[in-house]
Parts: sequence; structure tokens; C-alpha cells
Amino acid sequence: MKNYKNLFPIFKNNPDLHYLDSTATSLKPQVVLDKMMDYYINYSANIHRGLYPISERATEEYEKVREKTAKFIGAKKSGEIIFTSGATDSINLVANGWGENNLKEGDEIVVSIAEHHSNFVPWQELAKKRKLVFQISDLSFSEKITKNTKLLAINHVSNVLGTINDIKSIIKKARTINPDICVVVDGAQAVAHISVNVTDLDCDFYCFSGHKMYGPTGVGVLYGKVDRLVQMNPVRFGGGMIKTVDLHNSTWADTPEKFEAGTPPIGEVIGLGVAIDFINEIGMENIMVHEKELIEYLFGKLKGIKWINILGLQNLVKLSERIGVVSMYSNDKRVGTSHDMADILGRKFNVAVRAGHHCAMPLHTKFGIKTGTVRASLGIYNDKNDIDELIKGLKHFYKIFNS
Ligand SMILES: Cc1ncc(COP(=O)(O)O)c(C=O)c1O
Repeated sequence: MKNYKNLFPIFKNNPDLHYLDSTATSLKPQVVLDKMMDYYINYSANIHRGLYPISERATEEYEKVREKTAKFIGAKKSGEIIFTSGATDSINLVANGWGENNLKEGDEIVVSIAEHHSNFVPWQELAKKRKLVFQISDLSFSEKITKNTKLLAINHVSNVLGTINDIKSIIKKARTINPDICVVVDGAQAVAHISVNVTDLDCDFYCFSGHKMYGPTGVGVLYGKVDRLVQMNPVRFGGGMIKTVDLHNSTWADTPEKFEAGTPPIGEVIGLGVAIDFINEIGMENIMVHEKELIEYLFGKLKGIKWINILGLQNLVKLSERIGVVSMYSNDKRVGTSHDMADILGRKFNVAVRAGHHCAMPLHTKFGIKTGTVRASLGIYNDKNDIDELIKGLKHFYKIFNS
């Protein structure tokens, strides 16, 4: 198994760190940090304005990342890519910019129970505001879609279960019921782990964050089909997004500038471009092979621990249909909470996992889990030793509560 740890400077000062929290955020490779530093040191001018060389360079690089991003997710043109501050921001833009403008009282919208709060709460709020019928679909998705369903919001990969949804088939099926259904896909957990082609998926919107794909925080992406972007209103107003302004009215610039008011996160967008290069250079195939080997190893080890349950495992048969995310809980009442477990793993073993509901309370409630789960999630830098330490920590934890 190839070792990628040396590409990530965090391990130089933390050689014993066992980072199993990539679903929350991924670590950053040196190349991304170097490029951002290069921008801030050598050409940190604003974009789209200056007529001097460093501003022109910044503008050119920023716009090149738009092209690169379009190519990375299989969009037809770079104008379909809008830079936001993250997946949450992208989804809120669709809810407030498209939903507000295109949905009316009585329209149905369907959201899956397995959504991250970022792809749940904006729709719940919109439904209240616009008096929409808010339908919650179970894990099989399509049963709630009717010819009155105007929008479906669904994740590509669950941040709790690690399951990869067959988005292409779901969309195809949804469109046989209502050809004009608008499908918003939350790809926050997909883009760093599986190949994505939005044109092939035929989704209307696709949202993700830079920081979960080896890029910086503060930058995200909203992909939108041209026709849908035409139907969408800007929700933030200010510099950079206007065509004309007079004392009474203003007109808007073309897409995508129309949706990027104010100074964008320039250094972060440039860093995102390098994160895309980083993924492309390793190759998605190699990433998937690396993670698959680790998932199999992890599941093999967890199977041997009788007091641990894996959330939703009965719904997930094939390891090939999931990424390296596992949310677990104890079936032994003598054992402490998920937070106790994560605390001991972190403090005693330097194993970084996440405890709680992982911003997916409706899903945990569906499974009857009150105090949350412990989630371990993998990235390209992980190896079998990280998993061995996790297992060692879990066994130690059990011993404490049973001695
Ligand atoms: C599936 C999913 N969607 C959306 C988000 C929100 O991403 P961000 O906090 O970067 O906006 C997350 C973050 O964990 C996620 O896992």
C-alpha cells in the first residue's frame, strides 16, 4: 500500500497523529499550501479590476480554476461554475436564489432523511416561508416523488453512512415522474472519493466544499445547468455582480459573476485549483483502490468487536458502494457515550474521530440513536496502522468501562 503521508506537512510535527476525520475536513497537502502562500506573497491583488500585472495574473489564475473545476466534475462550460464559501453556502444559494423564485405555495419538495443539516434545514426553512409541502423520503428516495414534486435534494455520498447513492438512476426515475423536477445534489462527500460527472448524472445543481477535497477552507462550488442559473436570482448584492447602477435601480452582470458579489476568496480558489491537480495527479482510480483496501481492512477488524454496531449496516451490502466512512455505537449499555469513546481515542491514542450526530440528527433519530455515534472516516493519507490504533483504542475503551 502506497504511503501518501509525506505529502502532508501536518505529519512532520505530528508523526503520531491518526487522522480519521476526513469527512469533517481533509488535511492539506504541501502543494496546496505552497500555492496559496505564493499568491499571498507574490501577487495578492484583487481580481477583475486591476489593469496591472499582478492583478491580471490573479484574475487569470482564478478564472483558470473555474475551467479546471468544470472539467473536474464534467460540466459543459466554465460558466456553470460559481464559487461560494462552501457546500452550505452553495445549497443556501440554490434555496434562496432558485427556490424563492421558482417554487410557490403547495409545491412539493422532497428531501432525504439521510441529508446533512446543510441540505435539510435550508429546504425546511424555505418550505415554511413559501408554504411548500415538505416531504421526507426514506433511504430508497423515490417513493415520495409525485408529478407535483418540484425539487429533490439528495446527497451523492452520505457523511454518516458512507453510502454512495446511485444518483443517475434516481434522477432518471424522478424525471419519468416529473420531467421538470429540479434535482440538487450535495456532493460534499463525493468529490474527493469518487469520479463525478454532472452532465452524465443530469443533475440541475451540484454542491461541494474545497476543504473536504484536500483544498482550503472558505471556498466551495455550485454547479448549475445554464437554464437553471437563468431562473436563479442573486441573493447577495454589491460590487462585482452588477452591470449598471443608477439611483433607483441596478442590473446584473452575466452568470457566474452575478452570483459572486464582493471580493471572492481568491487565494482559496487558487488553492482549490491545486487540490484538483493533486487529486488528478494521484488519480481517482488510485484513490478509490487505496480507500477500498482500507475500508475492507477496517470492516474486517470491526466485525471482530462484538459490542460495536455499525449504523445502517443492514442497508449497505457491498463495500464497493460506499466510501471510507463508518459510524458506530455500542450495543453494550455498560459502555459510555460516543463522546466518551472519541475522547479516549483522541487523548490516549491520538486517534482523531468525530462523536455526535455529524449534522444529521434526523438520520440518527430514524435509527433510534440518541447520544450519537462515533465516526471514523478515511483519506488518502491513511494507512493500516491508523486503523490498528483505532481498534486498539476501542478495545482499551471497552476495558475501562468493564473493569
Ligand atoms: C454531506 C455534507 N453536506 C454538506 C456539508 C457542509 O459542508 P460545509 O460545512 O463545508 O459547508 C457537509 C459537511 O460535513 C457534508 O458532509
